[in-house]
Amino acid sequence: MEIDVWLEKVITEAALLNGCEDFAPEIRPSDPKFGDFQANGALQYAKKHGQNPRTLSEEIIFYLSAKQEVKQSVEASLAGPGFINFKFRDEFLCQWLNEHFNAHSFRPSVNSFFGKTVIADYSSPNTAKQMHVGHLRSMNIGESICRLLEFCGAKVIRDNHIGDWGTQFGILIATIKGENVDLDKLPTDVALAEIERLYKLGNSQAKESEAYLSSARNELVKLQNGDPENIKIWEKINAISYAAFDKIYSEFNVKFDYVLGESFYRDRVDAVCKSLEKCGIARSDNGALVVFFDEHGKFKDQPFLIRKSDGASNYATTDLATVEYRKEHFHANEIIYVTDGRQQDHFQQLFMTVDKWFKARNVALPNLHHVWFGTILGEDGKAIKTRDGSPIYLQSLIIEARKRAYQIVSEKNPDLGIEEKNEIASVVGIDAIRYFDLAQNRTSDYMFSWENMLSLDGNTAVYLLYAIARMHSILGKIEEADAPVNNLETNEERALVRKLMYFPLVIKQAVSDLRPHYLCTYLYELTGKYSSFYNANRVLVDDATVRNRRLILCKRTLLVLELGLNLLGMTTLKRM
Ligand code: ARG
Repeated sequence: MEIDVWLEKVITEAALLNGCEDFAPEIRPSDPKFGDFQANGALQYAKKHGQNPRTLSEEIIFYLSAKQEVKQSVEASLAGPGFINFKFRDEFLCQWLNEHFNAHSFRPSVNSFFGKTVIADYSSPNTAKQMHVGHLRSMNIGESICRLLEFCGAKVIRDNHIGDWGTQFGILIATIKGENVDLDKLPTDVALAEIERLYKLGNSQAKESEAYLSSARNELVKLQNGDPENIKIWEKINAISYAAFDKIYSEFNVKFDYVLGESFYRDRVDAVCKSLEKCGIARSDNGALVVFFDEHGKFKDQPFLIRKSDGASNYATTDLATVEYRKEHFHANEIIYVTDGRQQDHFQQLFMTVDKWFKARNVALPNLHHVWFGTILGEDGKAIKTRDGSPIYLQSLIIEARKRAYQIVSEKNPDLGIEEKNEIASVVGIDAIRYFDLAQNRTSDYMFSWENMLSLDGNTAVYLLYAIARMHSILGKIEEADAPVNNLETNEERALVRKLMYFPLVIKQAVSDLRPHYLCTYLYELTGKYSSFYNANRVLVDDATVRNRRLILCKRTLLVLELGLNLLGMTTLKRM
């Protein structure tokens, strides 16, 4: 059981012995000056029942201390208007160190998602375009959330809901035919860039010529009606797109279980519209089909369009069909959508519609979460772009990151061979991009900066990776038996264990808010605590007991750092 859960349990029991039946302990981590945790529940309870909060807390402390198990582990004291402060005793800290020796040993304390099926809908780019900086956050945040949820016991299904059925295909097919392009002959590494170029070309022609536009429309209708030639071109474009996406995914260690794009639902959207009409949720409005939210302040005058007046379904219709499919086919308990914050209205309206629709049919509702994120900004404070105004493609971002990482590695460790430097830089480059992104609160915009991203100190991947490499080198120097730790001596040792003990709590917090940056902040602070410990306490001393204890502290820090970074999606190194 995790420490906060355990505290909650023993306090509730003590309160019960004191005759308080509905006592809520309200545990929170406290200012380290006063202890490890604080329970504030007595204030609320005393107010409600007309008691004196300090007396009440005193009584609860009395019953707490009467319990051997509690007395041995923690010191409870009264503070302020009636708080109870808890400080863990050294015995308890040692026991924690001895019990948490591998990733598995954390599982019982973080298994809140055990037995749950979660669909993670993330990355989900539109096909026929290369992935660019704007696609970074969904991939990073999404993958990290998947790993965190899996660690908490969930069965996670990663579903890449690519945009493969849009109106862009009319123009593209018209242009590909007009320019006589043989898609099979395009060299793999430039094929998607060429398709993107063709699209831009077609788009500007369509703006100038009415005839061109109508031929594009015609090609789109043919595609939608299943014309074999157009279907073939469309499939080819998607295959080329996906092959290019997959290269980026494999660089970032991202693997999807399913790629059920928008097109997968194209034969299901009509039934969705019918069902919504039948349930009285959607109604026609000037030829279109819409869902009104008369009861809703913001969306009262902004209905959810699910079929346009020309009969075409849209993004909304597809998403409705998708929820239905995920519920029926995967038995999803939770669905997580990771997209740009500009889609907030869409998802709010989608979730409200799903809520009505499922309730009307008496179908159990999965929990739906929109995990949205802010924009990556350039130095001018606007969404980042290259100088000529085109997007920064992820492919070139990766190359640049590796080049810069190589330079840093060479400066830090000039004696390494070129090949090893390259291998290290290849990991550091990706980790640096990813960590810089994840360390930001997802709902904030942030400014892209190579300097900050690759800084050797501060909350960066480079800083953490170097700390890890140093720990490996200390541990590699000595083959030590893992004898249990029975005492602690210095304040730095204690502070480090206390920080380590918070790891499961941070995981739970990151998962409940779906915000991986909590974990980043924690790992950075943990590394700081480790540095203070390491600078003040020699590890490789002659005294075998002290050496063993300090090596174990080092091992546990390494375990939590590597595990934590892995949960963010990162690769760690033994040598740098
Ligand atoms: N393709 C969309 C875009 O590029 C994101 C899709 C997100 N997933 C969803 N089920 N709507 O903005």
